[in-house]
Amino acid sequence: MRTEHRILRGDARDLSALPDGSVHLVVTSPPYPLVAMWDGAFGQMSPAAAAALGAEDAATAFEAMHQQLDAVWAHCQRLLVDGGFLCVNIGDAARTVGGRFALWPNHARILTAALRLGLTVLPDVLWRKPSNAPNKFMGSGMLPAGAYVTYEHEYVLILRKGGPREMSAADRERRQRSAMFWEERNAWFSDLWSDLKGTRQELDRGTRERSGAFPVELPWRLIQMYSLYEDVVLDPFAGTGSTALAAAASGRSSVGVEQDPALVALARQRLAQAPSLGRERAEDRLYAHRELISARLRAGKEAAHHNAVLDVPVITSQECQLTLLVPRALSWTEEGATVEHGPPPPPAQAALPFA
Ligand SMILES: C[S@@+](CC[C@H](N)C(=O)[O-])C[C@H]1O[C@@H](n2cnc3c(N)ncnc32)[C@H](O)[C@@H]1O
Repeated sequence: MRTEHRILRGDARDLSALPDGSVHLVVTSPPYPLVAMWDGAFGQMSPAAAAALGAEDAATAFEAMHQQLDAVWAHCQRLLVDGGFLCVNIGDAARTVGGRFALWPNHARILTAALRLGLTVLPDVLWRKPSNAPNKFMGSGMLPAGAYVTYEHEYVLILRKGGPREMSAADRERRQRSAMFWEERNAWFSDLWSDLKGTRQELDRGTRERSGAFPVELPWRLIQMYSLYEDVVLDPFAGTGSTALAAAASGRSSVGVEQDPALVALARQRLAQAPSLGRERAEDRLYAHRELISARLRAGKEAAHHNAVLDVPVITSQECQLTLLVPRALSWTEEGATVEHGPPPPPAQAALPFA
């Protein structure tokens, strides 16, 4: 199986070069309106937003910034296949403008835009990101009633174009191979994520903070949850290329769009990490599954089914054809890379203990 990965330099507000219905899943994190690190980006996109901020008119700036993002969501809606998903990681903005502290609900404004576009709004995820900052409590301290709740979460909004995706017989077969383990479903389809663990492919902390990158585990998980092997995943705000890397590691094709040429170059380079990320995640998944099965058997519980591809017991019949494919070879193209995928090399599987 072969996947293609392209990181394009461009403006997310104009994705007209990409054809209608060519994308199965969008995973993205836009610049956050009214979060100070993105004021410059919005100022470039919208002089009206810059002028409003200069005049300390937060409400006008908030709306002008979101109007830039509205154009991106409209393109995503056009690009998605019927039944395709749009997953948006966004944080609200807690900010003092013109001497007044307020929360600017970016997630709510994006959901409003999605409803206007006719997208189906589905239950979302709260991504909990605890802060260690000593000054994290805001406002009047121990004195009522002027203190503010500490803001330690972001959202992953889950939207779908229309109803469930229609699938051909070949799609249904791919879907079976793309299945998750029962225990992965239980953890990932929770509305609270506080367990996004790091991987060896993480960017150093400085690069991550400067670029507003999310941990690669976030797009990786969404890709397992909402797409099939060989699907196409888009990130219109590609940044450091975390979504493209996660897609390449997961046997999905990808398109990333990013306006900053330095980040375009970095995102393309990061694709080189897809083989190690893919192997690491496949090994970890199988190892964790074997541990779960061992623990269940020790506790006298059953694992009623068998996955012949991986030669492991599984809990449900839906996991019987679950296949772990990993990148086996990567070759560079002008805009990114082509990746060949296959089963993990035997030593990786043989090294895993199983009671
Ligand atoms: C929150 S960051 C995304 C980070 C990305 N998820 C990652 O893991 O690296 C938003 C990105 O959008 C880019 N950006 C801002 N405005 C843009 C526009 N109009 N078109 C394309 N990219 C844009 C910024 O340069 C930045 O890299």
